[in-house]
Amino acid sequence: MTETLQNARTQAERAGADVPFEDWMRQHQARAQALIAHHVPQAHPVVPQLHEAMHYAAAQGGKRVRPLLVWAAGECVRADEAALDRAACAVELVHAYSLVHDDLPCMDDDVLRRGQPTTHVRFGEALALLAGDALQALAYEVLTPEAGVAPALQARLCALLARASGAEGMAGGQTLDILSTGGAISGDDLMHMHSRKTGALLKASVMMGAACAGQVTERQPAVELALEVYGEAIGLAFQVVDDILDVTADSATLGKTAGKDAQQNKSTYVSALGLDAARQLALTLRDKAQSALDTLPAAQCASSQRLRELADLIVLRGH
Ligand code: IPE
Ligand code: IPE
Ligand code: MG
Ligand code: MG
Ligand code: MG
Repeated sequence: MTETLQNARTQAERAGADVPFEDWMRQHQARAQALIAHHVPQAHPVVPQLHEAMHYAAAQGGKRVRPLLVWAAGECVRADEAALDRAACAVELVHAYSLVHDDLPCMDDDVLRRGQPTTHVRFGEALALLAGDALQALAYEVLTPEAGVAPALQARLCALLARASGAEGMAGGQTLDILSTGGAISGDDLMHMHSRKTGALLKASVMMGAACAGQVTERQPAVELALEVYGEAIGLAFQVVDDILDVTADSATLGKTAGKDAQQNKSTYVSALGLDAARQLALTLRDKAQSALDTLPAAQCASSQRLRELADLIVLRGH
């Protein structure tokens, strides 16, 4: 383990429940950064251009909300730290890959991401496509170390991530997004599209954190049910807020081109409901998520503070 990764882990471990949320968040964002830099080094002897593109896409910037959800769910169930780190890193690698592909000319055709030229603008389309592919593959490699994480847990984490990324999840939702662009969409279809393209990976982050609690044979249905409701609600809320920010924030704040959804005739919660109703929906989803935490068994409920705070962050964020 590199020294930076060790420091980031030690700092994050010191951040107990009495630590202000902002500090907890910053420490865990640093931990995510160190993990990504460790698994996606900029310089690599095998195919240097590909590794540079992977590093560019994954290791620079980003709010790291998905790793934060993994660790917050992990705190809630007192999960295994080594497994949590791998889950947090893997889900962020899949997210980074999804952004690279989302920005491609054949998808949203975006030129700005995390305040920098998009990966295909910087490295060309072919390398961007391949960097996305390689980041996705790396996520599963990270989840399956030869030692340190029990095989049954590795399998469960892979299954959760694969389901959330594939046709039932992100890739399926992205397909619905492309197919619905420029046309009318029903409220139900919009909900299904957003829940898949964005919600699925956020929900998986929560469930992967919860899965790290112990052996698969010791799964706790009451905990899983409450966290599933929480994950679904914050997952959908995240994309509702992304739609709102596309209209209300500027490009410098977002680090991506503002106003893109209307420009491209995307089906969004703002185009379907208007700004006020979209804002209200985001708050309602936040409340639903936090109420689900109230239904957790006493021990987990008592340690669900970070999940509550992350629900607020997801809905009240400015970028
Ligand atoms: C943007 O995700 C794409 C969506 C799924 C809405 P984030 O807002 O989490 O992007 P980063 O990781 O912080 O850049
Ligand atoms: C993207 O949704 C969801 C992904 C699966 C990446 P958007 O297309 O709205 O995300 P941004 O606004 O480009 O970040
Ligand atoms: Mg898109
Ligand atoms: Mg996009
Ligand atoms: Mg968007």
